[in-house]
Amino acid sequence: MSDLKKKILTTNLGNPVYEDQASITAGESGPTLLQDTHLIEKLAHFDRERIPERVVHAKGTGAHGYFEVTHDVSRFTRAAFLSEIGKRTDLFVRFSTVGGEKGSADSARDPRGFAVKFYTEEGNFDMVGNNTPVFFIRDAIKFPDFIHTQKRHPARHTQNPDMMWDFLSLTPESIHQVTILFSDRGTPKSFRHMDGHSSHTYMWYNQAGEYYWIKWHFKADLGFQTLTREEATELAGKNPDSATKDLYDSIAQGDYPSWTVYVQIMPPEEAKNYKFDPFDITKVWYHADYPLIPVGKMVLNRNPENFFAEVEQAAFSPGNFVPGIAASPDRMLQGRLFSYPDTQRHRLGPNFHQIPINAPKAAKANSYQRDGFMAIDGNGGASPNYYPNSFGGPAPDPQFAPPPVDVAGMVSRHPYVLSDIDFVQAGELYRRVMSDQDRANLVSNICDSLGQAQQRIQLRQTALFYKADPDYGQKVAEGLGLDLAAVKDLAAMSQEERVKATQA
Ligand code: HEM
Repeated sequence: MSDLKKKILTTNLGNPVYEDQASITAGESGPTLLQDTHLIEKLAHFDRERIPERVVHAKGTGAHGYFEVTHDVSRFTRAAFLSEIGKRTDLFVRFSTVGGEKGSADSARDPRGFAVKFYTEEGNFDMVGNNTPVFFIRDAIKFPDFIHTQKRHPARHTQNPDMMWDFLSLTPESIHQVTILFSDRGTPKSFRHMDGHSSHTYMWYNQAGEYYWIKWHFKADLGFQTLTREEATELAGKNPDSATKDLYDSIAQGDYPSWTVYVQIMPPEEAKNYKFDPFDITKVWYHADYPLIPVGKMVLNRNPENFFAEVEQAAFSPGNFVPGIAASPDRMLQGRLFSYPDTQRHRLGPNFHQIPINAPKAAKANSYQRDGFMAIDGNGGASPNYYPNSFGGPAPDPQFAPPPVDVAGMVSRHPYVLSDIDFVQAGELYRRVMSDQDRANLVSNICDSLGQAQQRIQLRQTALFYKADPDYGQKVAEGLGLDLAAVKDLAAMSQEERVKATQA
C-alpha cells in the first residue's frame, strides 16, 4: 500500500499520531507529562464513554427493516405511509426487557418492549409497544412506584418478591397482566418469536376528518413461541444475551424475521357504550367485537453497524405522530407522551433528535428550536429563528389538524374505581384460552415467585387469583400450602377490607 493510501491514526481532530503504545515520559523511568495531549484525549474520552442507561427497558437490541402496506386502510387514516398497497417505509426496531439493567439476562420473566420507528415522508412515527396487549396499571401516576418494585430493594440491592407482590396485590387491576407475565408468555423464546401490541388505544383520522379508536397488533410470522421457567433460567446462566445473539445471527444469515401487522378499529360512538372503558390499558378489546384488520408486513433485514450509535442512542416516543395518527384519552398514554422525550433530553441531550438514528430520513425537520448542547445539523444557519416572521421561514399548515374531540368534565383526581369487571379477562384467559399445560406452568411459575413473599402478601394476592377464577385461586393456594378457607374469605371482601385484613 502506498503511503498516501495508508490510513493514518489521528487524534479526534484529525492530527496525525506518531506513536500510540507509549506515553510521553520524562526519561525512560520518569513520570508522564501533561503535554501528552494524545494520552489525555484517550483517557478523558474513555472516562466519558458511558451514558445513563434507559431508566426502564435498559437491556435490548435492534435491527433495521421495512414496512409494506398489504391492505387498504386509507378510509380510516390519512397517514401517507399507509396510503397505498405496496408502499414501503424504512424502519428501525428495538426489542427489550423492562426491569433489568443493561447487562441483565434476555430470558428473564418480564414483558418485552417492542418499539418501531417508521421513517415516513411526513416525519417519524413511533409505535412504542410491548409483547403483551395489556399493562399492570392504568394511570401514569402509579408508574414510578410500580417500576421501583421491579428493580432492586433499597437496602438489599436485590430484586425483592415482597416489594413486587406487595405492590401487585395492592393494585388488583394488574391481575390480567400478571396472569400473562407468569404464563410462559412471560419468557418468549426470542425476540423473533413474539408478537407486539400498542396496548394503548390511539386515534386514526382520515382526510374527511372522521376519526376512529384503534389498537396495533404485530403477529410474529414464526408464531409466539415460549420457554418454560426451567429453560429460561438455564439460558439466563448459559447465555444471558440469547435473544440479542439470536436476532443478530438470523439477520446476518439472511433469515429475516417478519411480522404481519393488524389493527382493531372502534368507531367513536361505540366507545361510549362499550362493555368497559376502551381506554383502560388493563383490558383487551374482544376480537369478536373488533376483529383484527390486516394492514401490512414488517420485515427486519439489516443489522446495526454500530450498537451504540444505532441502538443505545435510539430514542422512541409514543408521542411521535404523523398526520392521521394521534393520542387517545388513555391516561397512561398521556403520561407517556411527556416521559419519553423528557428522559431522552436527560439521557442523550436536548438535541437527541439530531442523532442520525433519531433524525427523520424521508422528511426534513424545519423547526425554530435552536442551540443547546451538541447542535450538529447547522442549527438553522442564517434562517429566521422565530415565528411568525416575514423572511420566508416555515409556517404551520392547518390541513394537518386532527379532528376536534369532545371532552367535558370536572377537574379532579378521578380514581379508577376497582370493580368485578377488572377480574373478568384474567379469568377468561385462565379458563378459555390456556391449555391444561399452560395452566399448570402458570401456577408453578407463580408459586415459585410468590412463595418467596411474606405469607400475608401470598394470601392477599391469591385471593385476587381466586376472584379471577376459583380454580386458579385454589391451585395457587394448594401450591403455596395456604389455607383455602382464608383465601376464600379474603376473596369475598372488598379490596379495602382485604388490605386491612392482611396488614403487617
Ligand atoms: C421505555 C416511561 C409505560 C413501552 C421507557 C422509558 C421511559 C418510559 C422513561 C425510557 C425511554 C428512553 O430512555 O428512551 C414510561 C411511563 C409509562 C410507560 C412513564 C407509564 C405511564 C409503557 C407501556 C409500554 C411501554 C404501557 C408498552 C405498551 C416502552 C418501551 C420502551 C420504553 C418499548 C423502550 C423503548 C426503546 O427501545 O428505546 N418507558 N413507560 N412503556 N417503554 Fe415505557
